[in-house]
Amino acid sequence: MRRPLVAGNWKMHGTRASVAELINGLRQQVLPAGVEVAVFPSCLHVVQVLDGLADKGVAIGAQNCAVDPAQGALTGEVAASQLQDAGCALVLVGHSERRLLLGETDVEVTRKFAAAQSCGLTPLLCVGETLVQREAGKTLEVVGAQLASVIEALGIEAFARAVVAYEPVWAIGSGLTASPEQAQLVHAAIRAQLAAQSAEVACAVRVLYGGSVKAANAAELFGMPDIDGGLVGGASLNADEFGAICRAAGS
Ligand code: PGA
Repeated sequence: MRRPLVAGNWKMHGTRASVAELINGLRQQVLPAGVEVAVFPSCLHVVQVLDGLADKGVAIGAQNCAVDPAQGALTGEVAASQLQDAGCALVLVGHSERRLLLGETDVEVTRKFAAAQSCGLTPLLCVGETLVQREAGKTLEVVGAQLASVIEALGIEAFARAVVAYEPVWAIGSGLTASPEQAQLVHAAIRAQLAAQSAEVACAVRVLYGGSVKAANAAELFGMPDIDGGLVGGASLNADEFGAICRAAGS
């Protein structure tokens, strides 16, 4: 039985004051015991969030890490070893905003995945197709290739200590959500691709759905057999809404 995970991606949002308010709001939420909850603040606020939520059982992750795990001369980047030292448990890799807006390649995504694992962090690998790719009937091909590049480089066992998030690009921040059936189809394909190499790894890995998840659609999405929780952007900036999504994963 896979334990659901609900992860809040705060993206490039927050000031010290608004983060303090969000921490306060999250502290007041009743979080279901059977659900793992994680938040991904900007690097600048990781320590503030760790201090504020340390005793709440919420894991903290970063939104990115450098391709090399060790500290070094690389202006503006943050190493996975530094994230681990700060108290992070997870790191997002391959978010579509980084792939598409910052030109991050599958090779870089794979290196970041490996860097995270080498420091004991759990990588949360994001995959997903654009609207043009979906309309061209290429969804499974695109998602399959993104996943394959990591499997081929690092081996299937790398997924024994990782999480996958399927995030259709057209559903991110758009208010459009994949229907539970549309999402399930891709989630099942992701799991089948992993199962082709290890049934055990495929059965244990959590595959989250992301893209305009909110309290109103979470239960339906999380009710699908291969959807093991959500990666939540906009709605994770509202503590009550995020709390409700976490509770939907527990029901
Ligand atoms: P959204 O973002 O929930 O605002 O659509 C999800 C994500 O990009 O992780």
